[in-house]
Amino acid sequence: MTKISASMLASDYCRFGEEAVKMEQAGVDYLHMDVMDGTFVPNISFGAGVISAVHKASSAKLDVHLMVNDPVRYLEDFKAAGADILTVHAECTPHLQRVVKAIKDAGMKAGVALNPATPLETVKWVMDDVDLILIMTVNPGFGGQKLIPATIEKTREAAEMIKASGRDILLEVDGGVSPSTCAALREAGANLLVAGSALYGAKDIPAMIVTLKGE
Ligand code: DX5
Ligand code: ZN
Repeated sequence: MTKISASMLASDYCRFGEEAVKMEQAGVDYLHMDVMDGTFVPNISFGAGVISAVHKASSAKLDVHLMVNDPVRYLEDFKAAGADILTVHAECTPHLQRVVKAIKDAGMKAGVALNPATPLETVKWVMDDVDLILIMTVNPGFGGQKLIPATIEKTREAAEMIKASGRDILLEVDGGVSPSTCAALREAGANLLVAGSALYGAKDIPAMIVTLKGE
């Protein structure tokens, strides 16, 4: 079954708590928190302090997407802030397996994100350890971008890799998820869809969740 993670990057930053509760009550499975450092990606968003505040305001599970260099410096901060899933970019560290293991040792689910141009092969040798693979369907840094078509085939190949591993690994897609792209992503094998602008821009959020899930 498809799950939905609402990206708070598209929310009203003056009202993070209310925006989180709104998505939780509408029925999303996770809140997706995009942490950007202005170095790995051109944009700066928010950090563990904001995530901790959202965690106090809402009981939704937190799916934290770190777009920061050298992420191992912050793992304990995000655990303390309430992260359930912590996803790091493969491009951010030369020691991916060590970082994945450190996330799990800290008591969180470990995800690995791949930029559109990063080969799937990058995660091949950490398949025994990861809980989630995040296929970026846009270049990270900003909400509201158009999905890059080639990432749909990449998602399909990732689904095949996961199947071959025999492990229960979530396949998340992030960027440009909308009513016009969600069916192809689900059909390719994605089972966790991140949606920012599609959800926060929707008049009827529960109806948009149903559309994105394809129910
Ligand atoms: C982009 C972020 C996404 C972003 C998605 O770097 O990782 O999570 O919020 O936004 P939409 O759904 O608007 O493309
Ligand atoms: Zn994200």
